[in-house]
Amino acid sequence: MGTAAVGVTPKPDLLTVEQAKSMDLPLMTELFSTHINPGQLHFMKLLGFNKVKIERAEGMYYIDQNSRKILDFFGGFGSLAFGHNHPRILAARMAFQEEKRHEIAMAFMSQYAAALAHNLAACSPGDLDMVFFGSSGSEAMEAALKVAERAAGPKRPKVVYAENSFHGKTKGVLNITDGKLYRGEFQLTGNTVRVPFGDIEAIENAFKSDPEIGVIVLETIQGGAGIITAPTEFWQKLRALCNQYGVLWVADEVQCGLGRSGRFYAFEHHGVVPDVTALAKSLGGGKTAMAAMIAKRDVYMKAYGTPKTALIHAMATFGGIGEACITAIEALNVLYDEHLIDNSASLGAYLIERLKGLQEKYPSLIKEVRGQGLMVGLEFHDFSKTMPVVLRPVVAMLDDKLKGSLPGFIGSHLLRDHGVLVAFTEYNRNVVRLEPPLICERAHVDEFIAALDEVLSRGIVRIVKDFVKAQVK
Ligand SMILES: Cc1ncc(COP(=O)(O)O)c(C=O)c1O
Repeated sequence: MGTAAVGVTPKPDLLTVEQAKSMDLPLMTELFSTHINPGQLHFMKLLGFNKVKIERAEGMYYIDQNSRKILDFFGGFGSLAFGHNHPRILAARMAFQEEKRHEIAMAFMSQYAAALAHNLAACSPGDLDMVFFGSSGSEAMEAALKVAERAAGPKRPKVVYAENSFHGKTKGVLNITDGKLYRGEFQLTGNTVRVPFGDIEAIENAFKSDPEIGVIVLETIQGGAGIITAPTEFWQKLRALCNQYGVLWVADEVQCGLGRSGRFYAFEHHGVVPDVTALAKSLGGGKTAMAAMIAKRDVYMKAYGTPKTALIHAMATFGGIGEACITAIEALNVLYDEHLIDNSASLGAYLIERLKGLQEKYPSLIKEVRGQGLMVGLEFHDFSKTMPVVLRPVVAMLDDKLKGSLPGFIGSHLLRDHGVLVAFTEYNRNVVRLEPPLICERAHVDEFIAALDEVLSRGIVRIVKDFVKAQVK
């Protein structure tokens, strides 16, 4: 090898950090379309979300390029339990950087990963004691499936999952994610049994008739399906059936965990403990990518408990990376110090009460209000069949995703006219998902309700017409 020549590799046309921060909307749009996802831009344009550039974010609010505050009732599908840029979480991260702490923890043990694993075991009931770290909910769910599959053994490779489930989009968990859109025409492995969510008889029949079933995977509260819960009786019977048939229960708490439901884990409402669970989203404190699979010690030991099996699914390059771990450690401390789990329970009840008030006021628009803690679904009536005649030609021209479903129109008005952000639901287009940060206060709920009340007071004809008018502007 010769001596490397200095400075001969030309620098490509790179944007700087400062240029990234100060980029204007037209350039953002062009780069998003050229390099990221032109199809997704289509939906952003449809709803008017392409007109917003977020400059900062603090607490319950985003702040856009016009210094307008946007109240965040979307909460990144449950990723923002602590709100935006929580000061304690920011301070912990800054101190970590200033002290020049190490990040990659593959050669040596990491004190940060060890402390976080301890904390998660302390937050988890029963002997959910063994922790695997990853960077996304999908990765944590992949780890959950793999630990359960190995513990169940090669004679019991089948996995039960629920209708309308969402467990991620990576290739392994796609087998148990029930969305046609996400599955596309990918080759799946089979070896799965699909049951209706919350149907204990279907589960019992499956366990009884197929001794190859070794694992069942369920979201404790289905998020993507439109905030669907099952009663305590279901979960207790499920635990008993799993014990009876020797099936391992994996509880996906990626969206509903970490206090969102008013308990640390949503399954704690029902007095039962799964064999394996998974957390992600808010575990990163709203600042970083952090996810965890937590397994009962005996399940973990069966799967990977010997020196020979220990490395079969040891952590990936960024599993347990330093700054992500200390962010999560601080986040868990904040969760308890600021009583955010209790706040989620009480404010969630208040939000549901206020939404039920709106349902009484607008019974022809709102079909149902449901949820647990600050994980709330607001379902509108499907108006594809009952749509006023005057609207039919207008709606016929709109994108398929908007036909018959009010949330697209309402979400768009809430953002444009009131600076309020809400989330849509892929599997049920009539449901608005509300997952505000757990730092939410009554005044934020009141602000949200006032905005929604005003939009709903326009009535269906004006809601749709206003939307179309904004499209042609
Ligand atoms: C219940 C559930 N499981 C898994 C995932 C996948 O998480 P991620 O998007 O971080 O891969 C999600 C994401 O929305 C989820 O809601």
